[in-house]
Amino acid sequence: MRKIIITIDGFSSCGKSTMAKQLAKKLNYVYIDSGAMYRAITLYFLRNHVDWTNSGQVAEALENIELEFEYNPHSQQSEMYLNEENVEFLIREMVVAEKVSEVAAIKEVRDFATTQQQEMGLKKGIVMDGRDIGTVVFPDAELKLFVTADNAVRVERRFKELYDKNPNITIEEVKNNLEMRDYIDTNREISPLRQAADAVVIDNTNLTPEEQLEVALDKAKSAMMESVG
Ligand code: CDP
Repeated sequence: MRKIIITIDGFSSCGKSTMAKQLAKKLNYVYIDSGAMYRAITLYFLRNHVDWTNSGQVAEALENIELEFEYNPHSQQSEMYLNEENVEFLIREMVVAEKVSEVAAIKEVRDFATTQQQEMGLKKGIVMDGRDIGTVVFPDAELKLFVTADNAVRVERRFKELYDKNPNITIEEVKNNLEMRDYIDTNREISPLRQAADAVVIDNTNLTPEEQLEVALDKAKSAMMESVG
């Protein structure tokens, strides 16, 4: 079967990455978490006190950033490396989540990440999730999914995830962060979060992970058949 590109976009914490990982595993495709790249860039900016309102400082910082995904056979996940350091856990912390949407709204940052994402798709056989993957990164992707879920369910899911690592976190904090990111991501000038005109919408509010995989797999199989012609 010919390999295709599958894009999965949607609001914060709607279950995109769970679906993308499931699909990639089933199809033997590479999963790419584009949000991890924006998070790693944000971590670098925070650590190095980069003033991201200053374009000279942003350009200089980007020259010193090398991003790499490496597969960890132990966790069976692809993990994010920033200048050869594994930052997979650090980038999920609230300090990064609080600033990532501001950083991801910067043109130079988006150009930097988008170019690398497009290179990763050259050989096809990928599932990439994010906000602008079906609209900007791969506008010709063979299958575009747009995932949605009720707000309360999204907050609850992300709270559970973060609470396991940090019991001091509050549900209010998580809710505010998701709302703020959704607002910035939707309203930014460059590559705002939008549903591509040809995307298939999957609302997973009431779906179990198994059910959601079944729906997505069904769409993937049809797209693969169609791409064969
Ligand atoms: O928390 P969640 O898993 O939903 O977000 P993420 O996928 O880790 O992405 C973190 C942030 O990166 C988003 O809130 C966006 O600001 C930004 N992002 C983006 O602008 N474009 C993408 N393709 C992916 C993420």
